[in-house]
Amino acid sequence: MLQKSYPYYLANEPVSPNQDLSVTNKYTGEVTTHVAMADVNAIDQAIAAANAAAEPMRKLPAFKRQQILEYCVKRFQERFEELAQALCIEAGKPIKDARGEVTRLIDTFKIAAEEATRIYGEVIPMDISPRANGYSGQWKRVPIGPCSFISPFNFPLNLAAHKVAPAIAAGCPFVLKPASLTPIGALIIGEVLAETDLPKGAFSILPCHRDGADLFTTDDRLKLLSFTGSPEVGWQLKAKAGKKPVVLELGGNAACIVDEGTDLEDAVARIVFGAYYQSGQSCISVQRILVHESLYDEARTRLIKAVGELIHGDPADENTFIGPMISEKEAARLHGWVEAAKAGGAKVLAGGNCDGAMLEATLLEEVSPEMDVSCQEAFGPVAILSKFSDYDEALKEVNNSDFGLQAGIFTKDIYKAQKAWDELEVGGVVIGDVPSWRVDHMPYGGVKDSGIGREGIRYAIEDMTEIRLMVLRNPNP
Ligand code: SIN
Repeated sequence: MLQKSYPYYLANEPVSPNQDLSVTNKYTGEVTTHVAMADVNAIDQAIAAANAAAEPMRKLPAFKRQQILEYCVKRFQERFEELAQALCIEAGKPIKDARGEVTRLIDTFKIAAEEATRIYGEVIPMDISPRANGYSGQWKRVPIGPCSFISPFNFPLNLAAHKVAPAIAAGCPFVLKPASLTPIGALIIGEVLAETDLPKGAFSILPCHRDGADLFTTDDRLKLLSFTGSPEVGWQLKAKAGKKPVVLELGGNAACIVDEGTDLEDAVARIVFGAYYQSGQSCISVQRILVHESLYDEARTRLIKAVGELIHGDPADENTFIGPMISEKEAARLHGWVEAAKAGGAKVLAGGNCDGAMLEATLLEEVSPEMDVSCQEAFGPVAILSKFSDYDEALKEVNNSDFGLQAGIFTKDIYKAQKAWDELEVGGVVIGDVPSWRVDHMPYGGVKDSGIGREGIRYAIEDMTEIRLMVLRNPNP
């Protein structure tokens, strides 16, 4: 289903100077295609081209930016199954999840097409004192200029789209470095963008080694860095980014509270989905499950059964729920954390075994807070179960984390819901569902080590534009 090879995109053009990057099928481990890799020289050319494209992009009218985004929507719809198969192969994403991601890619571009025509400003009365009599003001948003984007492996299409689509809507040229393990999704986006009449230099999509990619962070011609990936890398990049603003969408160890009175049939089904879909490789995957003591035993029994029934295997199989993790190394890392937790007294309620990149959906109990499976980001199919008796203490426990992306609360009590919204140190609180829930126009991002800034098209456009004020004096008010 994949092409034999893929070019990179430099200043809107496909370029294939080499085939240096081998992309594997993450389930079989076989090399499945080859991709051109950009060197420092190509990255420098791409940044120069983006810089030159800043003015034509700024001058592109809103209806034109909208048309380009709508064209992309149409092409993604036409190439739907090809995109899903590509994700399934390059990311090992179960085919149902892969189709779900393509649907979201389309949503993301649709939302951006709508937002392109509503980047509004404001009129401000200025006559607040006698000295300002006769003055009025208004501001509008202007594109920030060339943007630098680095996207992760876990949603190769949609998390690249969350940068690319608002940039086009805002009128910003960009250079994008997709994850080296999963570059194909972004390169197909490039193929589609190359069919549009975006100004020359408006986009470059450049797979490259991390050590060759410093320019994405350090180059002063780039006016914004937006990174999605691991907290460790994200905060390092921020330290090197110089004067440019930085948006970081990083990870977390998301928690989900199940309060007394919750319908467990529904909650358990949602938690199992939220913890284990696409092998837990989502920044908002459920990692910590806190259940009220009155429901604990029943929730535990139901969770063990449901987790045990998940179908593991080939992601191309329509029935598969759990495929491989992104690499054997990542699976071994997380399996090591599970083994360490066991050695420290944790109980394995389900799963716990690992074979190559296939780590079983794993549920643990009696985990202490300082264990890696609890306090670090698991980013894999591992969740831990604990009991609480007091709701306020459970909220404190959710906050007892270096991270703060989203939290989920199953409660029927509106005041408790409100309290969670008030008290939790996170970017978003989801009531009646898991923290893993997201639609693509909502503000999305974290606090604490989980990042800075928000994505969700409209909010990304705010970062990709600057307010420019005009003051108007009427000498004869
Ligand atoms: C993420 O892993 O940060 C994104 C999750 C999502 O878009 O559902």
